[in-house]
Amino acid sequence: MFGARCLLRALRSCSSAPCPRHSPAARVSVRGALGVQSANGERVKVQGWIRSIRSQKEVLFLHVNDGSSLESLQVVADSSFDSRELAFGSSVEVQGQLVKSPSKKQNVELKAEKIEVVGNCDAKDSGFVHIHTPVITSNDCEGAGELFQVESSSKIKVPEENFFNIPVFLTVSGQLHLEVMSGAFTQVFTFGPTFRAENSQSRRHLAEFYMVEAEISFLESLQDLMQVMESLFKTTAMTVLSNCHKDVELCHKFIAPGQKDRLEHMLKNNFLIISYTEAVEILKQASQNFTFTPEWGADLHTEHEKYLVKHCGDIPVFVINYPLALKPFYMRDNEDGPQHTVAAVDLLVPGVGELFGGSLREERYHFLEQRLARSGLTEAYQWYLDLRRFGSVPHGGFGMGFERYLQCILGIDNIKDVIPFPRFSHSCLL
Ligand code: 4AD
Ligand code: MG
Repeated sequence: MFGARCLLRALRSCSSAPCPRHSPAARVSVRGALGVQSANGERVKVQGWIRSIRSQKEVLFLHVNDGSSLESLQVVADSSFDSRELAFGSSVEVQGQLVKSPSKKQNVELKAEKIEVVGNCDAKDSGFVHIHTPVITSNDCEGAGELFQVESSSKIKVPEENFFNIPVFLTVSGQLHLEVMSGAFTQVFTFGPTFRAENSQSRRHLAEFYMVEAEISFLESLQDLMQVMESLFKTTAMTVLSNCHKDVELCHKFIAPGQKDRLEHMLKNNFLIISYTEAVEILKQASQNFTFTPEWGADLHTEHEKYLVKHCGDIPVFVINYPLALKPFYMRDNEDGPQHTVAAVDLLVPGVGELFGGSLREERYHFLEQRLARSGLTEAYQWYLDLRRFGSVPHGGFGMGFERYLQCILGIDNIKDVIPFPRFSHSCLL
């Protein structure tokens, strides 16, 4: 406390006294700053990300890291710097004086004169860290074989060799990479281009689309996962409606009359939950004739999904616990006989059908090992099995197709109308 007061006095006197402000600040890395043996008020500029923030009555402590060192640099600032934007994960540029720290925990600290937030951390309210997952990958996360393979177009000197030595593809999902990162940051998300070589001309499939994906460690129930999904759907819609209401109104007026009320209906009601088994029963009892006859063990088709949403009063509905045989290797086994299901969840919405797909992940080493072995994937997924070997925790996550989300809230029938350059089979203009 005494240290903080002294420091504050020093900061205040610095802002009025002729401290060496005029000398330009030299840019240093966090590692460089921490390495200064006898700091003496040198003016420096440090750029990095806020790793922790502690706000006291009159003083603010930030720990900033730029990846150059495992240790972070302590930044001490007057509490007048405090703002919503200064939060975990935000990137900042801090200018100030490098001084000897009164605390034994570190040699030096940076007395801030100026703090500029370079990039907000949008997800700070809910505590999700944004991860850029790769576009090029060697995994087929969904195991559906809908992959675009990537290879160098130049004349490869040794034709039998792949550029990366192994076959690689455009990503079908960032999930497996997020699972790695959720082991470090607990709650993570990604938002990026996703590719599927689905030979489909439907109104809801693209070969290139954007997906928001989230992964949460220490999550043990589908109930908790569904809460995050519902809240993402609703808070995003509210934000779009309040920030761009004129654009939304234009769409609703000229393209989808009545959509405003349909959207309000979705937003003000709690989403419903049914099991896959219940869904099949509902479909079997339907008066409507389907192209694909509903039966337990078969995939739900768009016509089934749309019927289920209508049946639920045009309120989005979560369908949970799908047959194990229908879903990818990573979904958690419910160990329920005789009908064997996994803890999967799809969110079906009016007009579109499936908008989110998610699950609890199989975090138990032996279960996962067996699933991988059955799919012949053991060798390729050793790194994924290792995540279950070292400090595995229950976790789960989901992905939401961004273009389908726009279709749903704007009431646009064809996915090709919510993206300027739609890519689908037999069409890649420009
Ligand atoms: O259900 P999917 O295949 O789930 C996954 O990829 C998981 N690995 C996500 C995760 O858990 N992290 O895809 C998620 C969503 C779908 O519900 C759908 O909205 C969208 O991505 N999607 C497509 N959107 C447009 N065109 C396509 N071809 C799509 N395929 C999936
Ligand atoms: Mg799906």
